Amino acid sequence: MYKTKAYSAASATSPLASTTIPRRDPTEHDVQIEILFCGICHSDLHLVRNEWNNVMPAVYPCVPGHEILGRVTRVGSGVTGFRPGDLAAVGCLVDSDRTCRECQAGLEQFCPNGTLTYNSADKHLGGVTYGGYSDSIVVDEHFVLHVPSNLDLAGAAPLLCAGITTYSPMRHWGVTKGKKVGVVGLGGLGHMAVKLAHALAAHVVVFTTSPGKKEDARRLGADEVVVSGNADEMRKHAGSFDFILDAVSADHNIGAYMQLLRRDGNITLVGAPENPLAVSAFGLILGRRSLSGSPIGGIRETQELLDFCGSHNITADVEVIPIQKVNEAYGRMLKSDVKYRFSIDMASLKSE
Ligand SMILES: NC(=O)c1ccc[n+]([C@@H]2O[C@H](COP(=O)([O-])OP(=O)(O)OC[C@H]3O[C@@H](n4cnc5c(N)ncnc54)[C@H](OP(=O)(O)O)[C@@H]3O)[C@@H](O)[C@H]2O)c1
Ligand SMILES: [Zn+2]
Ligand SMILES: [Zn+2]
Repeated sequence: MYKTKAYSAASATSPLASTTIPRRDPTEHDVQIEILFCGICHSDLHLVRNEWNNVMPAVYPCVPGHEILGRVTRVGSGVTGFRPGDLAAVGCLVDSDRTCRECQAGLEQFCPNGTLTYNSADKHLGGVTYGGYSDSIVVDEHFVLHVPSNLDLAGAAPLLCAGITTYSPMRHWGVTKGKKVGVVGLGGLGHMAVKLAHALAAHVVVFTTSPGKKEDARRLGADEVVVSGNADEMRKHAGSFDFILDAVSADHNIGAYMQLLRRDGNITLVGAPENPLAVSAFGLILGRRSLSGSPIGGIRETQELLDFCGSHNITADVEVIPIQKVNEAYGRMLKSDVKYRFSIDMASLKSE
């Protein structure tokens, strides 16, 4: 075991602050990674503030961060896919049972015995796992991803959650050339969804509450942009979408978007607001529409996403910040004031 620097929250109401945490020494199949960049996901904020208490109570101290990108510093004797000096990335999962039906299918995100990167029971050291707002991390190589060398590192980190979480349902629901795809909420997830749907050659329509994001939405790849408060603009799209991805982090009227689906259209929730959303039965019945959800993606598909981004040169639009600005960044994220993902430069942690 060794100690590494990190930022943690001591309670649901405490700001994140400098600390040290234990990490295991790499065992046979482990990869030790020096973290260079870590994205800030809205899930970090939900969890740290215990907003998901009913499903996933936070354990304190809590070290968030699951958009991890870094360089390999050490590997265990049984590791075959990584060498010291390689780029490496870790997303939301660091372990699973590898034996259940989901794991066998390469869908580790559904494993009933999965270990999340933070706030899951730590099988090695006891207590809970600690995430990427830290100097280094040690992860079994099965859960470590390869990063295409052409990608900007700060912008590639968010692919590990925002990227895969939007890519996976779009692949599952058949987003391809010519499909009409809506993206609700132009935040970290939403802006990745726009870039990826555009790269998949879909016709992309962004729904935003922020009129100031209209031009950005087009630059990111949207064919049309709708300010969702404008009822006339919304009505024009009634019954026309094949697929809508809802990436909103707070209470909102999902019924307004269900009306926009065509027959057999699907709306998938990736946003995870604290409170339940109201769904009208007739919004689904008429049109045989479906509503579903989707969590991150499996390891195989996450690598596929990274390779896809490598070949299309896709990264997140990031504002790089030092770790000392993380609390300020959380405040700005809540005001939808981030263009479009914060990526923490972990070198800033060395001065703590
Ligand atoms: N399913 C999964 O596996 C998974 C993975 C990662 C994250 N998530 C969840 O996905 C959600 C989005 O995460 P993120 O990191 O992309 O967050 P984010 O960067 O804060 O983006 C959320 C966006 O939602 C819109 N929004 C915020 N408040 C709103 C309100 N009151 N009404 C309507 N729209 C509002 C804003 O877009 P506009 O300004 O364009 O309106 C905002 O930019 C979070 O709940 C997060 O926990 C889920
Ligand atoms: Zn996330
Ligand atoms: Zn499993």
